[in-house]
Amino acid sequence: MFNSLKPIPADPILNLVVECRADPNPNKVDLGAGVYKDESGHTPIMAAVQAAQVQLQQQETTKTYVGPAGLASFNDSIAHLLLGNSHPALQDKRVACVQTPGGCGALNVAAHLIQRCHTEEKKAATVWVSTPTWANHIPLLSSCGLQLQEYPYYNYQSHTIDFDAMMETLASIAAGDVVLLHGCCHNPSGADLTREQWQSVASLLNEKGAIAFVDVAYQGLGDGLEEDAWGLRYLVEHCPEVIIASSCSKNFGLYRERVGAVLVAAQTSTAASNSQGQLLSIARGIYSMPPNYGAALVDIILNNPELTQQWQTELTQMRERIIGLRGCLVNKLQAAGAGSRFDYIQTEKGMFSFLGITPEQVLKLKNDHSVYMVNSSRISVAGLSNNNMDYIVESLMSVI
Ligand code: LMR
Repeated sequence: MFNSLKPIPADPILNLVVECRADPNPNKVDLGAGVYKDESGHTPIMAAVQAAQVQLQQQETTKTYVGPAGLASFNDSIAHLLLGNSHPALQDKRVACVQTPGGCGALNVAAHLIQRCHTEEKKAATVWVSTPTWANHIPLLSSCGLQLQEYPYYNYQSHTIDFDAMMETLASIAAGDVVLLHGCCHNPSGADLTREQWQSVASLLNEKGAIAFVDVAYQGLGDGLEEDAWGLRYLVEHCPEVIIASSCSKNFGLYRERVGAVLVAAQTSTAASNSQGQLLSIARGIYSMPPNYGAALVDIILNNPELTQQWQTELTQMRERIIGLRGCLVNKLQAAGAGSRFDYIQTEKGMFSFLGITPEQVLKLKNDHSVYMVNSSRISVAGLSNNNMDYIVESLMSVI
């Protein structure tokens, strides 16, 4: 059976971590995967998470099954983190929310739910994704049979959102189609919709009878926890149905613990309750139930005012550090003679921006300077530090 298998290229993002780890160059820099790093290049465990680990160790009394929904109080806390405490959808009990193994689990469970809805209606399910989008959106969404289509999003020349082209394409979508939007910190471009643009998208989706599907993997790392949720909250308030995939990998630094949630905001409480049942049956059929540990930590943090405060303070420090690194990179590139070519990096949001260099230049940076980034020239800004900034600027200037 296995003799028929063909070789397959390694994952373009995750393999960079492996390659960089194996590189003996002491000056190597990993700007590949979206992982927060401190000044020493280390991904620390947040202090709020460490405190929650101690609490969990003391209070945990069983390792029995948690069930396909995960922890009910985690789901409740995440729904409030996403939607705010007084969102009408929560008050009307129109929300289903299920804990998942990371944001990837949430995206895949949501994809299955979309497929199930369309199977009931005997229609092909089409999900529209931005060009570009996170590379892993494609397998996560298409593996259960959804058809993917693309809408224009990022203009590589102007380093802005091609909003007119995006709206023109979305104007042609069919009723029942699903549009995947990045809630904040667009991956890979760092270019986020303005509030006015979110409003226009919401109106267009309503006009077309299309459904918004929001991936929120970086809440708190763009402008702030509340600010980064503005777009999705607006959608949930103004559109009859919205799906949200959320992740605690980045904002709680819980990458390897696989903590996420899928949320459905439905038109009625009955539709929400039926969605909840379908989500549970989908989870049961894929992985049975999500891992408990990371979600239990998030649950402790979000239900303890002191730990919540501590976590928010740490998240703010991480966000501000990323914003500072963006500014520093732009200033140093200007000083090195790049002119205003990279100025857009200062205003983009979250962990990523494109350098706008060719795949050949990306390869040269890796081979000659041990500076690692995705082939598209996407950098993970959090991989920069005051220690490696001059080396990166010098290396980049030598290849452009
Ligand atoms: C990224 O885009 O680098 C992160 O979301 C990590 C991943 O799984 O790809």
